[in-house]
Amino acid sequence: IKITYVTADGTEQPVEVEPGMSLMEVATLRGIEGIVAECGGGCSCATCHVYVDEAWQQTFEEPAPEEADLIEFLDEAKPTSRLSCQLVLRAEHDGLCVRTPASQG
Ligand code: FES
Repeated sequence: IKITYVTADGTEQPVEVEPGMSLMEVATLRGIEGIVAECGGGCSCATCHVYVDEAWQQTFEEPAPEEADLIEFLDEAKPTSRLSCQLVLRAEHDGLCVRTPASQG
């Protein structure tokens, strides 16, 4: 499947991946700019923050309470905010585009 990470300054970083990994794992493996992922996927650092367009929001599981709590404390939180380590890619995510916040640039 093809997914695209867009940085705060508008740079598009498209990648082709097999489903099964999280958006954070893919970003780390491919050296995507804009995702830091300090905790390595433990849902505790919130440096893997991404914005997922509303149309795609519903294709992912609802955020767990730990994820929602972390997002609440982010300065750049928006209604579309998610933590990418909690977003596992499936076949239906072909064409997905997510944006990363300026603070993780
Ligand atoms: Fe730390 Fe997602 S990688 S919360």
